[in-house]
Amino acid sequence: MTQPKKLIEVAMPIKEISAESVRDGRVQHGHISSLHKWWARRPLPVCRAVVFSSLVPDPLDELCPQAFKDAVQILLGKEKNTGDPYKPYDDIPYTAAIDKMDDNLRNRLLMFIGKYSDEFARNEKVGKTTASKNQLSDSSLIKWDNKNNEEIIRKARKLIWVAHNASSGSNAKELLADFDKSYKAIKEAEENLYGLQDRHNETVEIKKKEETLHNALEVFLDKMPKVFDPFAGGGAIPLEAARLGCRSYGNDINPVAHIIQKGSLEFPQKFGKPITYSKEEFIKIYGKDLWNKQPQENKKIKNGEAISVRIENRLAFDVDFYAKKILAKTEKQIGYLYPKSNKGVDPYGYYWSRVGICSNPSCKAEVPLLKQFYLVNTTKKHLYLKPLIEGNKILFEIKSGKCKEEGWIRSRKLICPVCGSTTDTEELRNQSINKKFRMRLLAVIEDGDSGKTYRLPTKEDLEPLKEISNDLLITEEIVKGDSRSLWLTLWGIS
Ligand SMILES: C[S@@+](CC[C@H](N)C(=O)[O-])C[C@H]1O[C@@H](n2cnc3c(N)ncnc32)[C@H](O)[C@@H]1O
Ligand SMILES: [Zn+2]
Repeated sequence: MTQPKKLIEVAMPIKEISAESVRDGRVQHGHISSLHKWWARRPLPVCRAVVFSSLVPDPLDELCPQAFKDAVQILLGKEKNTGDPYKPYDDIPYTAAIDKMDDNLRNRLLMFIGKYSDEFARNEKVGKTTASKNQLSDSSLIKWDNKNNEEIIRKARKLIWVAHNASSGSNAKELLADFDKSYKAIKEAEENLYGLQDRHNETVEIKKKEETLHNALEVFLDKMPKVFDPFAGGGAIPLEAARLGCRSYGNDINPVAHIIQKGSLEFPQKFGKPITYSKEEFIKIYGKDLWNKQPQENKKIKNGEAISVRIENRLAFDVDFYAKKILAKTEKQIGYLYPKSNKGVDPYGYYWSRVGICSNPSCKAEVPLLKQFYLVNTTKKHLYLKPLIEGNKILFEIKSGKCKEEGWIRSRKLICPVCGSTTDTEELRNQSINKKFRMRLLAVIEDGDSGKTYRLPTKEDLEPLKEISNDLLITEEIVKGDSRSLWLTLWGIS
């Protein structure tokens, strides 16, 4: 064996990674998971920790290059870090015994990946819980809040750089100086390009500046490891590899995963950069209204007049702009189908039911085909539709608490709540095939400050539904003979 072991082969701060991963599952805003759902997407703290610790050696391995050991000392030692945030625990917080962690370079690397905060350690001693956002120290690489922390991410990139280039024979200082030079070239090339007015119009000058930036990135990436995830799914591993400055590749057999990867990895890198628009160009593309809405501090003033504006992220700005445009168009076309409540609140969702007809000829009640009546049934909240029978009409009210009513669909048969007769499955199927089933809106869901609320539909909700124009209805046919849609076709849904 001529290679030192990688850090991941000897030690990982598993407890700390788990703690931050639990938190990751709850983060929504700004998380790739909110771009599009993907199955079995790995938590980002795990991916960042795994990629990092697969790319750096164990400093205690006898084959670990001296340059890497020195780099850990320089970057994570107490000399350059006020308050010594990467000092190994004086007493490991999650063990019952009092145990000091050795102050060595391996442990400092582990503390850099993830370290419990002092607050967590104090609370742990007296059996108190700590809010998840405060469990890890602010200097931890895997902490959610540090995903764009230039100082911490740059430390990780430097460590990977030194590990990757240590075989060149250069010492830590030389390698770090080389890193700084490449990094500076990128930053300068970025500023030169992004500060340039109207770079969306590709002139010779702009193309040249783009090329300079591209070359600077290539020089940097050529000296970083390549990370390839052949089964990248939602893209968490290539995302974290790219964050750590690696040349990163993702692949997947599924085209949806491929598009998600393009949206979360490629497009932000290519298009999610700053741009400066002249006033004329901005107004030409986005209109005068939006120009007026741009914050004054982003505008450049000349002779008392704003002449240009800097947009920090062109992609995010465009997504927001065009999404609003599409929304406005959609609202114009079908907004009337979704009226606001009398308190001016937009609907969030609707609760519909199919309606069958009781087969008893003297009843013929129109019965919503409900197996149960809960609208919400969680440990904390129970809301249900309580039926009110008037003649052969079925009305509802919304009640909170436990529902004692038995559903009207039992073993795929309808038990009529008006007359008690049973309508069997075959008859229900015939009604469905012969288009006798109606749809009934049972409840409207609204999203309020303190969670979702539920109300019965009003005349205003129902009125617009009476005349939905045919061209709004779905005309695409369900594939025949497909085992996944067999159930639908058997019930006449084509
Ligand atoms: C568990 S998921 C990966 C999740 C990913 N690590 C993440 O964090 O989002 C596994 C992925 O492998 C893909 N896959 C399965 N067989 C494949 C194959 N032969 N070639 C490429 N991708 C494949 C699946 O489509 C799926 O997206
Ligand atoms: Zn009946």
